[in-house]
Amino acid sequence: MIKVCEELGIGFVPYSPISRGLLSGYLNERTQYNAANDNRGSLPRYQKDALIANWPIISILKEFGDDRGLTVAQVALAWLLAQKPFIVPIPGTTKQAHLQENMWAANYEFTIDELQKLTTDLNKIKIVGDRYTGISVEQTKK
Ligand SMILES: NC(=O)c1ccc[n+]([C@@H]2O[C@H](COP(=O)([O-])OP(=O)(O)OC[C@H]3O[C@@H](n4cnc5c(N)ncnc54)[C@H](OP(=O)(O)O)[C@@H]3O)[C@@H](O)[C@H]2O)c1
Repeated sequence: MIKVCEELGIGFVPYSPISRGLLSGYLNERTQYNAANDNRGSLPRYQKDALIANWPIISILKEFGDDRGLTVAQVALAWLLAQKPFIVPIPGTTKQAHLQENMWAANYEFTIDELQKLTTDLNKIKIVGDRYTGISVEQTKK
């Protein structure tokens, strides 16, 4: 899909670019979801075991950000922005402070080496928990 967008000059808006809040480090095994307006409680990737198993992603983003004055969400968004110039994340938030924080992520410019290392480190992690019930992690990669 990304290759086709590149070929045809089409912009790409990644779905839920902070993985519904997961890539901020704010969600953990104690997080409670409001069943009335939040479907994360029904999605495999947001269950307690998956959140614990996937924590190394947050650790990597945090370590990178701590050395550079960036939050976990900012590193996640900056990484996404650095993938292709036509990738345009539109993170959702209910907080003005998060909106500002997320916009600042666009100012960060990776060196080639740090982007490569961050990507290599993240690629080593095996993601636990499907994004949706009934669709496997492997299927979502296709
Ligand atoms: N058409 C559809 O059915 C559909 C469905 C889903 C998503 N989308 C699109 O996907 C994009 C947004 O997706 P999304 O809102 O589902 O997911 P998202 O942007 O990946 O994540 C939003 C979540 O991240 C949290 N968050 C945002 N910035 C944060 C920060 N700096 N630090 C900590 N937490 C932060 C928000 O909580 P706070 O409110 O506390 O900041 C919210 O819980 C939009 O472009 C939207 O239109 C479309």
